[in-house]
Amino acid sequence: MIVLGIETSCDDSAAGIFRDGKILANVVHTQEIHSKWGGVIPELASRDHVRSILPVIREALEIAGLALSDIDGVAACRGPGLLGSLLVGLCVGKSLAWGRGIPFVGVHHLEGHLFAAQIGEQIEPPFLALIISGGHSHIYLVPEQGVYRLMGKTRDDAAGEAFDKGAKLLGLPYPGGPSIQNAAKKGVPDAYNFPRAMRRKGELDMSFSGVKTALLLEIEKIPENVLPGRIFDLAASYQEAIVDALLWKLDAASKSCGIKRVAIVGGVSANSRFREKLSALADVEGWRVHLPPLGLCTDNGAMIAAAGAFRFSRGEISPKDITAVSRWSLEDIEN
Ligand code: KG4
Ligand code: ZN
Repeated sequence: MIVLGIETSCDDSAAGIFRDGKILANVVHTQEIHSKWGGVIPELASRDHVRSILPVIREALEIAGLALSDIDGVAACRGPGLLGSLLVGLCVGKSLAWGRGIPFVGVHHLEGHLFAAQIGEQIEPPFLALIISGGHSHIYLVPEQGVYRLMGKTRDDAAGEAFDKGAKLLGLPYPGGPSIQNAAKKGVPDAYNFPRAMRRKGELDMSFSGVKTALLLEIEKIPENVLPGRIFDLAASYQEAIVDALLWKLDAASKSCGIKRVAIVGGVSANSRFREKLSALADVEGWRVHLPPLGLCTDNGAMIAAAGAFRFSRGEISPKDITAVSRWSLEDIEN
């Protein structure tokens, strides 16, 4: 089955084509317009999706060497995300499927992220899923494919949001994750001791707003003319605190249920320092780790196509009147 996947939940207009465990094309148009605001402006995002999504789909078909008539099913991200943005991809996906008389399925964005780590082969459950992106920092237990039980989540900012807000405070460009990662390479990770929150035994929820405030307070203490010389150390120490908090939570979750198979997905899973420390921890704890390839960590259409193929394989087809949902828990995916 050849599946076209469409992703427009935030600021990426993306289309991917997936057939039998292989990606045939994956085209992502990242909207540059938001960088000057240091964050995504929802109305600008929807308008840009309207302009970009059809050319992006066309390009994906060209790369795959396929025509629209070769597509057997269409999947589009249904939520969670920005409502106006989601509606663009969902309506285009439904229209293409309806016009061609092929099935359509609405995909959960986070299930899409999880399928980015399962492109060639599905992960054997039970496993733990740490989903770390601009909007989510959630740990799930996956007892069987397609079923998700929430173990812990952030009580305030998501890890990616902490990177983005931290970068803004440091005067580094948006998106903050890659900017902080690059600046951190030139800094010392223990130059500053930023807090790793919520370390009570058995506590699997997270919090990233405190570390951001700690960074702000530290910046305010540094004289303006000295600050440029401290950016690298601040970035490295800030990144270290976020990475440590995430790994501590994953470790606590694993120990609480004895599961050593872990999948880590979402934009923050691309972070090089995170991957370095994860690999060391996995060796100590004997974990089997599943990560997406670097190019599939952030939002893309191939992950939506792969999750769509999974849903189609179970005989699921969405009704024509399916709507976009800005808030949608992964636990409620079957409802
Ligand atoms: O999964 P994603 O593309 O979109 C959402 O679903 O939110 O994640 C985007 C987030 C942004 O906050 C971005 O700063 C962060 O992922 N990110 C990173 C890195 N690359 C992207 N964070 C840390 N290190 C990175 N290399
Ligand atoms: Zn995402």
